[in-house]
Amino acid sequence: MSAEKLIELKNCTMDFPGVRALDHVDFTLISGECHGLVGENGAGKSTLSKCIIGDNHMTEGELFVLGKKISIPNYSVRESQKLGIAIVHQEFQLMNDLSGLENIFLGRYETKGVFVDWKALEKRGNEIMEFLECDIDLSLPVKRLRTAEKQIVQLAKAILDNPKVLILDELTAVLQERDIKNIFRIINLLKAKGMGIIYISHRLDEIFQCCDSYTVLCDGKYINSGLVKDIDKNELIKMIIGRELKNVYPPKETNFGETILEVRNLTAPKAFKNISFDVKAGEVVGIAGLLGAGKTELLHAIMGNHKIESGQIIYKGKEVHIKNPREAVKLGFGIVPDERRMLGLNMQFDIKDNTTLPSIDNFTKHRIFIDHEKAAKAAFDENEKLNLKYTSLWDSVKKLSGGNQQKIVVAKWMLRNCDVFLLDEPTRGIDIGAKFEIYTLIHDLAEQGKAVVLVSPELDELIGLCNRVYIMFEGNMMGMVQGKDINQETIITNLLGEK
Ligand SMILES: Nc1ncnc2c1ncn2[C@@H]1O[C@H](COP(=O)(O)OP(=O)(O)OP(=O)(O)O)[C@@H](O)[C@H]1O
Ligand SMILES: [Mg+2]
Repeated sequence: MSAEKLIELKNCTMDFPGVRALDHVDFTLISGECHGLVGENGAGKSTLSKCIIGDNHMTEGELFVLGKKISIPNYSVRESQKLGIAIVHQEFQLMNDLSGLENIFLGRYETKGVFVDWKALEKRGNEIMEFLECDIDLSLPVKRLRTAEKQIVQLAKAILDNPKVLILDELTAVLQERDIKNIFRIINLLKAKGMGIIYISHRLDEIFQCCDSYTVLCDGKYINSGLVKDIDKNELIKMIIGRELKNVYPPKETNFGETILEVRNLTAPKAFKNISFDVKAGEVVGIAGLLGAGKTELLHAIMGNHKIESGQIIYKGKEVHIKNPREAVKLGFGIVPDERRMLGLNMQFDIKDNTTLPSIDNFTKHRIFIDHEKAAKAAFDENEKLNLKYTSLWDSVKKLSGGNQQKIVVAKWMLRNCDVFLLDEPTRGIDIGAKFEIYTLIHDLAEQGKAVVLVSPELDELIGLCNRVYIMFEGNMMGMVQGKDINQETIITNLLGEK
């Protein structure tokens, strides 16, 4: 099969009011290749994808799909679908109350006369799940699925009609090692069929594991492209952030204070049972576990956001019965949740308000009026630390790139003076440069005597940052490792329940 040009973008410029998101970018995708599209948060990766699918109408430039020149003013998402272009967006685009099956076939129902042929849909749904080697109950409403399962439903929806071009915008950001391997397997099968895949990810190892070619964007500008086999990771990092990355993890804190949080035999039906762990002031404690281990549920249970059946939560030496997140926040807990759009941000608010909301008490004048100037200054300083890319603090968070939204979820809790920080995958979707800013912030929190609980799918992160790592498997606590034992091998053995 000879390779053909599936997509060709020439001189693509995309302007939003006040922002040039893409500046004369060239991009080519050929059949049978997986093409990594990389760059820092806000570099323009999602914008470029949306130009290809007709969701954005580029301001300048030309787009060719299968060699045919597209008339940009008349181009639309529907048109791109007809041409065989599919996308899994960075943010979930599913209808939460509909089932997985309904979501997959939405707008593409097969009918028998006037009736939807549910049997046929179920059969096709099962076939596609078999192809994906995923065992998801498609009859459940999507809101009851786990984050990673929702992602698989999105992928199933995208490949349903055998597209020629498939864009995966940070598909793996919410997935774990094992699921990611499965995604690579699927990508190889799709490539063999001649499909061209645009693969966007901040996890650079993935680019080397599954991409044939790469394109780097920086601040909306084209930096370079070529074959992955011709470069190494350091060269790629340098192209992305414009400098070499030195020491990645700050030194670990070793001076601990009193135990701040202790969880004893906590049980929540269907999520986890008999979980015990503790965190001292100044300590960073990791929780590792595969999908379905119950880590996210555990953090939500501590925040009063997930029903607990039995067990105790002891905070600063006293048992507490936290009924809702508001109470938890009052006591001194802060959480960076894993689903930022649903739980971490108010999409109607601007950047300043989102950043200062939990700590608004610190910015009052005469105890009643909000000192907006002081709040704006604090929001500015905190976001600056994380190198947030934005135009104005008074812009809606909706306008930010995915990774920049995530930075605000982190910044807002850093600003509030919490005693316990529960961080659920805080670096998800965050670019390599800013990741290390977050690592430094975590280290600073520990140095200030805060207790930090860190959930992360990246073992590297846990190993680099944590004083101790607890390991969960299917709702059970498998063990705890510390010191020299915090290494890949011990964690993985525990992770797989092979203890
Ligand atoms: N609808 C919009 N209105 C205004 N500005 C926008 C809009 N969409 C994107 N932008 C801006 O365009 C730039 C590029 O954003 P884009 O989402 O393409 O980045 P990205 O490379 O996908 O980043 P990330 O890795 O964080 O997902 C950013 O500065 C962003 O704020
Ligand atoms: Mg993006």
